[in-house]
Amino acid sequence: MLSKITVVGAGHVGATTAQRLAEASLAREVVMVDIVEGIPQGKALDLYESAPVVGFDTRLIGSNNYDESADSDVVVITAGIPRKPGMSRDDLLATNAGIVRSVSEEVRSRCPNAIVIVVSNPLDAMCYVAKETTGFDTSRVCGMAGILDTARYRSFIAERLDVSVEDIQALVLGGHGDTMVPLVSYTTISGIPLSQFLGRADVDALIERTRDGGAEIVRHLKKGSAYYAPSAAVAQMVEAIALDKKRILPCAAWLDGEYGFSGIYLGVPCKLGRRGVEEILEVDLTEEERSALQVSAGHVKETLERLSSLN
Ligand code: LAC
Repeated sequence: MLSKITVVGAGHVGATTAQRLAEASLAREVVMVDIVEGIPQGKALDLYESAPVVGFDTRLIGSNNYDESADSDVVVITAGIPRKPGMSRDDLLATNAGIVRSVSEEVRSRCPNAIVIVVSNPLDAMCYVAKETTGFDTSRVCGMAGILDTARYRSFIAERLDVSVEDIQALVLGGHGDTMVPLVSYTTISGIPLSQFLGRADVDALIERTRDGGAEIVRHLKKGSAYYAPSAAVAQMVEAIALDKKRILPCAAWLDGEYGFSGIYLGVPCKLGRRGVEEILEVDLTEEERSALQVSAGHVKETLERLSSLN
């Protein structure tokens, strides 16, 4: 069990993340920080009052400043504005870069040993901002997207085939956006390749829905973006870290030559343990997957160029 996890942002993603972390007893203390007065305090207290019923001893603390977050083992950054219908994640760039930068400054000084998990969008660029601002080793700054994108893909396949989600193994790599790359060659149903169940047109339709998965939720909600599946994905990353599980999960990680890319964050299979991203796994890709990853990396690079032109 970790001593302390801080979740920055007490909106839907932050609050449901805090709930999942507490209910899984992953830390002695979960601190929620948000600039809106009363919201982190109210939600933290409400959550803590559920503890006797649900059965956890994690203390929950809500605050409008970072004092309580000091020396956190893990910091989850969810702060930022969400998408509205018709917006792409990239439309959030300028606003959220400013927010993630100021959060990261606090993390640098208050939690110098923390592992940082970025959730704010546009994800891959916000990871870069957090890395640059904290100056932490890149093994300690990563982003949550691949597990979420893969979960959407897995759930759509399970629904389409009418089989258990538990039996779908898959990997979605690349940037967290329209160019994400579901790896069909690594998609299996209890080890049986997806191609033995579905033809190319059906697989393409599932891939398309996966790429549009975040926007599909935004179109329903109208006022914000998804939070149940994103918070579940964050909790899985925190669990891998807290329990030093060495899980192999797709995460946004800093690339330094892996897959032929450098100087960007991109979704790749990572080994997650108590030291953060302990290893990046380079798996074989088909020609088609490799060029799709190239397109996705190119898109992330363009976003970073736009970011630097804003500064
Ligand atoms: C989504 C947001 C969290 O994909 O990026 O739903």
